[in-house]
Amino acid sequence: MKALVWHGKEDIRCDTVSDPQIEDPRDAIVKVTSCAICGSDLHLFHNFIPAMLPGDIMGHEMMGEVVEVGSGVDGKLKKGDRIVVPFTIICGECDQCKRGNFSVCERSNRRKNLADKVFGHTTAGLFGYTHLTGGYPGGQAEYVRVPFADATHIKVPDGLSDEQVLFLGDIFPTGWQAAVQCDIEPTDTVAIWGCGPVGQMTIRSAVLLGAKQVVAIDRLPERLGMAEAGGAITINFDEESVVERLNELTGGKGPDKCIDCIGLESHVTASKPDTVYDRMKQMMMLESDRPHVLREMIYVCRPAGVISIPGVYGGLVDKIPWGQAMNKGLTFRMGQTHVNRWTDDLLRRIEQGQIDPSFVITHTARLEDGPEMYKVFRDKQDGCVKVVLKP
Ligand SMILES: NC(=O)c1ccc[n+]([C@@H]2O[C@H](COP(=O)([O-])OP(=O)(O)OC[C@H]3O[C@@H](n4cnc5c(N)ncnc54)[C@H](O)[C@@H]3O)[C@@H](O)[C@H]2O)c1
Ligand SMILES: [Zn+2]
Ligand SMILES: [Zn+2]
Repeated sequence: MKALVWHGKEDIRCDTVSDPQIEDPRDAIVKVTSCAICGSDLHLFHNFIPAMLPGDIMGHEMMGEVVEVGSGVDGKLKKGDRIVVPFTIICGECDQCKRGNFSVCERSNRRKNLADKVFGHTTAGLFGYTHLTGGYPGGQAEYVRVPFADATHIKVPDGLSDEQVLFLGDIFPTGWQAAVQCDIEPTDTVAIWGCGPVGQMTIRSAVLLGAKQVVAIDRLPERLGMAEAGGAITINFDEESVVERLNELTGGKGPDKCIDCIGLESHVTASKPDTVYDRMKQMMMLESDRPHVLREMIYVCRPAGVISIPGVYGGLVDKIPWGQAMNKGLTFRMGQTHVNRWTDDLLRRIEQGQIDPSFVITHTARLEDGPEMYKVFRDKQDGCVKVVLKP
């Protein structure tokens, strides 16, 4: 089959590889009909997250048709079912899965010993996302093997297009969780840094959850335009001071809730010297991530506010003003998304027409064009916000 394969930094190719096989009774094989490129894939593209190996198949946002099921799938899935595959592989049975903490499933990471050493305790297996999270082949491919398939799926009802439901596997529940974990109240100003695909879903979620005011921050006009269309007031950080404008919009009090939809690759610019400092330390391998936005959020957040972090961090961050955070009494919430915790509710909202996540798609291409589309997405060429690939 064809698949997008990681060969090294900024080197992803569309290769011919072996078709996946059932390896365990709880597996299913899915013929992928649509898959997407995620901001998290860019961190792998840039080799900022450790433990990718040449030959690894990329992709963790995919859906398709079940073409084969193992004997242990137990009637929960059958050939011909149309499913979205959540990026978090879940056993459905461990203590964490029972609590709905799916992204820290205790059993789905087949490199558990490595993760135990690095993180202190294992987290869930993830598709197409490094050997720290199981080294599972991803879904930017014609076929994908879904481990624990009886639990790791979202069934798609008839009548909904791939484009309407594909993002249930990642960015939609990610934006939703980012907003939900802020405990939004009707009096809240919610400030969202980053208007990429995750930021866009977070903006819509904060609006749906009833925030008084949603403010979105980025520098790319097309992404700011999309944010405005979703109901946000926008700040272009190239043109104005984020801190001053946020204080202005909140009568000097600061936003009640701050959400980081950027993660470890914050934009580097001479006008923000700490970003240059982070970049240099990153190049000298003295720091793995660029946490400019964390510093900005801690500084501007209203005391007793919440900082929510869906943006991915890979390792060590430097110069976090913990004294400000502690004295202001801030609450931090973060994590990889517990996808299946939210998807019944979100699927219902799509069916009811409360939201159609396909608004974010700007580019649709063939799987073979994937390597080029990674660059288009990374460089935001041609107004690119979200790429969907059709194997
Ligand atoms: N927690 C999860 O489960 C989960 C799931 C999906 C994605 N993610 C993470 O979410 C993050 C965003 O993903 P995406 O697909 O939207 O990526 P993206 O790269 O398309 O979007 C990032 C946006 O942030 C903007 N930006 C950069 N620096 C900024 C700054 N200082 N202030 C304001 N805006 C700034 C960029 O211009 C860009 O529009 C990534 O870190 C990704 O890994 C996490
Ligand atoms: Zn993702
Ligand atoms: Zn589990």
